[in-house]
Amino acid sequence: MRILAIETSCDETAAAVVEDGRKVLSSIVASQIDEHIKYGGVVPEIASRMHSESITAIVREALNSAGLKLTDIDAVAVTFAPGLIGALLVGVNYAKGLAYSAGLPLIPVHHIRAHIAANYISSPELEPPFLALVVSGGHSHLVEVRDYTEFKVLGRTRDDAAGETLDKTARVMGFPYPGGANMDRACKDGNPHAFNLPRPHVEGSPLDFSFSGLKTAVLNLINSANQKGEEINFKDLGASVMERVTGCLVENTLEAAKLTRLTKIVAAGGVAANSVLRAKMRDMCEKNNFELFIPPLSLCGDNAAMIGAQGYYEFLAGVKADLNLNAFASKDIDF
Ligand code: KG4
Ligand code: ZN
Repeated sequence: MRILAIETSCDETAAAVVEDGRKVLSSIVASQIDEHIKYGGVVPEIASRMHSESITAIVREALNSAGLKLTDIDAVAVTFAPGLIGALLVGVNYAKGLAYSAGLPLIPVHHIRAHIAANYISSPELEPPFLALVVSGGHSHLVEVRDYTEFKVLGRTRDDAAGETLDKTARVMGFPYPGGANMDRACKDGNPHAFNLPRPHVEGSPLDFSFSGLKTAVLNLINSANQKGEEINFKDLGASVMERVTGCLVENTLEAAKLTRLTKIVAAGGVAANSVLRAKMRDMCEKNNFELFIPPLSLCGDNAAMIGAQGYYEFLAGVKADLNLNAFASKDIDF
């Protein structure tokens, strides 16, 4: 079964053709970074407009590069939640028009489910059940993936997401947007123990995350140094922030694995591209004899191939939308 998949939840306009959930026939991602970089972050209105401008060309390119025509496609899958509402609506409405005109089924796909499904592409042998750490710009979740469309959230952030924390602290340190990725690149040889940053715990919920205290501590540290006219080594500070954030993520993942007795561990989402997190996850899994799955960098960030992968399993589970499909800025993964 060939699915044409569309993703427009944030600042990437993406389209892909995926066969049977696992084989990527084409995957086109048009990043808007060059536009948003001027503002230091994603401007929702601009994101929607840019999706509108480029979506037709991106979908056409996905078909062309797969060597296929719309008549060779069996279904259209689209991200319908969560994300920037105006951005999501562009993809949802485009997918509706395409599905209607071609007489194809329309499959609504949850963006965070799809991040997890990126691993089905890179690891053809991977099947649920497993434990997933999903860390993106807006989400930090520990999820028990019981089946392809059955999820139980074990832990989540109480405030800021991991990506958001890295992005915001990177911004005040002067790293350009997207902060998380640039901080990772710039701080590789920084000292991760140079600053003793707080290790946030959520009392009574050992699998939940809380990063806002850490973010505030970094902002205070920088403000106080500025007031005193002291220099800060941002390579060391960046390395220390990454050490702390990834430390929390990996410790809670281990705790969740012990509690659930799951030994297959999956990492997913934009922050799964982080070099410190990847190394720590590898180390933790090796020490505990867990099997680790992390997508290549190209499948960590937003793309439409992952939408096609999850879309396939949603379709097999009987999930289909009609032309009343709406977009939602937020929706739990276990909706
Ligand atoms: O999954 P994603 O592309 O979009 C959302 O669904 O949010 O994740 C974007 C997030 C941003 O916060 C970005 O800074 C972060 O992933 N990110 C990274 C790295 N690459 C992307 N964070 C840390 N290290 C990286 N190498
Ligand atoms: Zn994402």
